[in-house]
Amino acid sequence: MQITIKIQRYNPDIDDAPHYQEYSVEIDPNARLLDALMDIKRFQDGSLGFRKSCAHGVCGSDAMRINGQDGLACKTLVKDVAVNDGDTVVVEPLRYLPVQRDLIVDQSEFFAKYKAIKPYLINDEEVAEKERIQSPEERLVFDDSTNCILCASCYSACPVSEEHPSFIGPAAIAQAFRFLADSRDKGAEERLLVLDAEDGVWPCQNHFKCTQACPRSILITKRINQTKRMIKDWKGEK
Ligand code: SF4
Ligand code: FES
Repeated sequence: MQITIKIQRYNPDIDDAPHYQEYSVEIDPNARLLDALMDIKRFQDGSLGFRKSCAHGVCGSDAMRINGQDGLACKTLVKDVAVNDGDTVVVEPLRYLPVQRDLIVDQSEFFAKYKAIKPYLINDEEVAEKERIQSPEERLVFDDSTNCILCASCYSACPVSEEHPSFIGPAAIAQAFRFLADSRDKGAEERLLVLDAEDGVWPCQNHFKCTQACPRSILITKRINQTKRMIKDWKGEK
């Protein structure tokens, strides 16, 4: 099929502001949007900037906005975003992160917020046996949140960040939950102090946009609400 891909372009060296550029692409409907972007870069415009690495939904580097929805270009089939010949697919960089060039954003703030919740196991107690034992049932409590690939799709999808840019964001909270719910972890208080703050969990209003955007099917909104409950329990509130 023949489609138009309309891409937000921005090169800070030559552009005063972002603008859109259209490319006509002949592509198999079963191909992925990433294939179309690669086609443009190889055969039409080598100056187009976007990140990609694994091309199989594992590294999280090619998250972008596709027709106004956040997701991975390598997990998006052309036929799911362009139904008919001549359709236009609009591709833009993730929101709330500074654009470095075209579809490439500076992820520093996203990772700083992630780092703030201490995304690692905290437990100074001596290991009784060879390892810290955890039952399958205990693991199941937080299992989906271990699948995060830090793509920042949820961060861009969250409408709260529009009015509250310092909100820690869905990914950081889901990753905090991953350790808060881990039976082996002892760092709850350190994390809850970060999360029980003006920019922590409380700005979340249950829009569910993060959950819808997540390419790893993590139940982010549910994990955020469970984290809110943990804070209340920790503080002895109802
Ligand atoms: S929670 Fe999902 S959408 Fe958010 S960063 Fe992790 S994988 Fe990406
Ligand atoms: S390129 Fe790695 S997730 Fe898409």
